[in-house]
Amino acid sequence: MSRTPHSVSALSVTGSTYSLTLRVLHWLTALCMFVVIPVAWYMTTMDRHAPSRGSWVNFHKSIGLTVLLLTLIRVVTRLSGTAPPLPQRIPAFEQTLAHIGHGLLYLILFAMPISGYINSYGGGHPVNWFWLFQVPAVVPADKALGHLGSKVHYWLAYLTYVLIAGHVLAVIYHQLVQRVDILGRMTGRAGKR
Ligand code: HEM
Ligand code: HEM
Repeated sequence: MSRTPHSVSALSVTGSTYSLTLRVLHWLTALCMFVVIPVAWYMTTMDRHAPSRGSWVNFHKSIGLTVLLLTLIRVVTRLSGTAPPLPQRIPAFEQTLAHIGHGLLYLILFAMPISGYINSYGGGHPVNWFWLFQVPAVVPADKALGHLGSKVHYWLAYLTYVLIAGHVLAVIYHQLVQRVDILGRMTGRAGKR
């Protein structure tokens, strides 16, 4: 029996990709996330009086606020254009899961930087963005507010880990088990076929 591009072993290519802008924004955001999280783990295990702790915290905050900026640009770009529909070979319930997962990832991309910002500014600690300029305060210095930001930031970090792990596992599943070239939609490869 001859193998068609839709046979189980062939990698099905959808022929539709995200726009270059959305692809660049996705990978820049992913890179920032893979830096900001280990930096957070490192800085929170440091001795509170370690001389370099302040610099690590400022670095964490700078990358975190960069995620917020990238996400704002990304959401405006995403809403002002069209995203490629998911390939039909992906079952409806998996498509629904993907949409929910992506929606929650966007929520995290806003909620983590905003709660971190509230944590810092509520506690009266301004951010010096990559040591270039001081980010203005839009919330009052208020201990209770800062504490609330800290709690939200701490607990949402767990949701962040679960969502990123689920996201990466889903891509691996579609790619290797289902044999649908989902990655090509985010690298640009799918559009070239
Ligand atoms: C996508 C963006 C961000 C992610 C994923 C993220 C993630 C994290 C994680 C995982 C922790 C460690 C939590 C713990 O175990 O204690 C943390 C701590 C912290 N983050 Fe972020 N963060 C982000 C953005 C920000 C921003 C923008 C700020 C401030 C402007 C910030 C301020 C802080 C502070 C001050 C801590 C220490 C928590 C504390 O000791 O109260 N973060 N962050
Ligand atoms: C190795 C890491 C990653 C890989 C391989 C990856 C791969 C992908 C792929 C292939 C898509 C397209 C899904 C589709 O066909 O519609 C996608 C979408 C998406 N990814 Fe990732 N991703 C990674 C990391 C991340 C991270 C760290 C985040 C954010 C925390 C993220 C957030 C998103 C979001 C929100 C979408 C939906 C895009 C939209 O429809 O607007 N990704 N990712």
